[in-house]
Amino acid sequence: MQENNGRSTWGSRLGFILASAGSAVGLGAIWKFPYMAGSNGGSAFILPYIVLTVLIGFVLLFIEMSIGREARAGSGQAFGRLVNKRWNCVGLLSVLTGFLILAFYQVIGGWCLNYMFDACMGHGLITDTSKLGEYFGQFVSNGAMSITMQLSFLALTAGVLIFGVQKGIERVSKILMPLLFVMMVVLIVRGLMLDGAWKGVEFMFKFDASAFTSGSLLNALGFSFFSLSLASGAMMNYGSYLGDDVSMPRSVAWISFLAVMAALLGGLMIMPAVFAFGLDPSAGPGLTFVTMPAVFAQLPMGQLLAVIFYACLVVAALTSAISIMEMSVQYLIDRFGMSRTGSITWNTVLLVLLGIPCALSFGSMSDVLFFGKTFFDILDYMTSNIGMPIGGLAIAIVGGYLAWPAMRKQLHMNETVPAWLESFVKISIKFISPAVIVVIALAGLLG
Ligand code: PHE
Repeated sequence: MQENNGRSTWGSRLGFILASAGSAVGLGAIWKFPYMAGSNGGSAFILPYIVLTVLIGFVLLFIEMSIGREARAGSGQAFGRLVNKRWNCVGLLSVLTGFLILAFYQVIGGWCLNYMFDACMGHGLITDTSKLGEYFGQFVSNGAMSITMQLSFLALTAGVLIFGVQKGIERVSKILMPLLFVMMVVLIVRGLMLDGAWKGVEFMFKFDASAFTSGSLLNALGFSFFSLSLASGAMMNYGSYLGDDVSMPRSVAWISFLAVMAALLGGLMIMPAVFAFGLDPSAGPGLTFVTMPAVFAQLPMGQLLAVIFYACLVVAALTSAISIMEMSVQYLIDRFGMSRTGSITWNTVLLVLLGIPCALSFGSMSDVLFFGKTFFDILDYMTSNIGMPIGGLAIAIVGGYLAWPAMRKQLHMNETVPAWLESFVKISIKFISPAVIVVIALAGLLG
C-alpha cells in the first residue's frame, strides 16, 4: 500500500488480493469455524455455509468492494456519495460492526500468541486432552495473562499500521500465508490417520436434514459474512484503495475461494482429531486450542511444527485485525480530519477499553451476563448475527437497486464477463441475497 494525500492505494494487484485474502483468512477459519460447526450439528452448518457463500457471499463481496471503489470512500461515506447522505448511517453500522469485531478478535489473537510462546518453550505438547482442557481453562480465566496477551496482539496490530503495511506485513504474509495452508494440509493428513478420525469427516459432510435448525442457518449466514469480512467496513475500505486497472470480479473470486478453502481446511484439521480423541465437538471457543496441541504431540518434530503453525496463525490473525483497524483509522481521518497517528491512538485506546471485558469474559466476568451471554459472546453474536446481515442487506439494496449501473460498470471494468455471470450477479444481488438474508435473519432471531 502507498500513501498519497492521506488515502492509500495498492502497490499492485497482487498486493490488493493478498491483503484482502489476508483479511478474509484468519481466526475465522481456524478458531471459529470448527467450534461453530461443532456446536451447530456439523454438516447442518457447513453445507449451508458453502451454499450461502457461493450464492450470496461472493456477490455481496463484489458489490461491497465495488461500492468502495466507485465512491472512492470507506463505509462511513461511500453510501452517502452513491445514494444520499441519509444512507451514511447504514455505513456507520458497518464501521461499528467491524470495530466491535476487533474488540473480541484481539482476545483470540492473544490466545494464539500465548500458544506460540508456549510452543517455543516446548510446553503443552501432550496427548492427554483433559490436561490440555484444564490448561486452556486456567489460561483463559487468568485475567492478567490473557489481557497481557491481548494487549500485545493489539500493539502488534497498531504497530504495523504505524510503520506501514506494505513494507512489513505484505512481505511477511506473502511467505507465511501459503505456509499456513501447507501446514494445515500436513496436520490434516496426520489427523486423518488417527483411529476414529473419519467420524469427524462424516460429521462435517454427511447430509442430515433433521439437523438443520433456523439457528444453525443464521449462524451459517453470519459465519459466511464473517469469513469474507463482509459488511464490516474492511472490504469496502480496501476496495476504495484499488486502482481502476484491476478486474474486481476476478479478484473477488480468488478472495472468496481462499476464504472457503481455509475454513474447510480448518474444519478438516480439527474435527477428525476431535472425534479421534473423543472430545465434545460442541465444547465451544476452546475447541481448536484443546485439540491442536494433541495433534502436534503425535507428529515427528512436533514442537518445531507447532511453533511454525502458531506463528502463521498469528500472522493470519494480524492481517485480519489490520484490515479492520485500517478501516476504523481511515474512518476517523475522513470523518473528523484527524491525523493518522491521532486516529491510531484513539482507536487503540478504545479497543483496549472494550477488549478488557472481552478477555475477562472467560474468567472473572464469566457470570456477568447480558441476555444470557457474556460480554464476549454478545459482541460476537451482535456483529455476526445482527450487524452483518443488516449491513449485507443494505449493500444488496444499494448495489442491486440504487446504484446498479455503477456496479455493472465495475463488473465489466478490465474484464470480459460472460453474460451468464452478469445475470447471476444481477439476480443474486436483486432478489436472492435480500430475500435469503431477511428470511434467515428473521427465522433465526425469532425462532
Ligand atoms: N474474516 C476474518 C476471519 O475469518 C474476520 C474479519 C471479519 C476480518 C470482519 C475483517 C472484518 O478471521
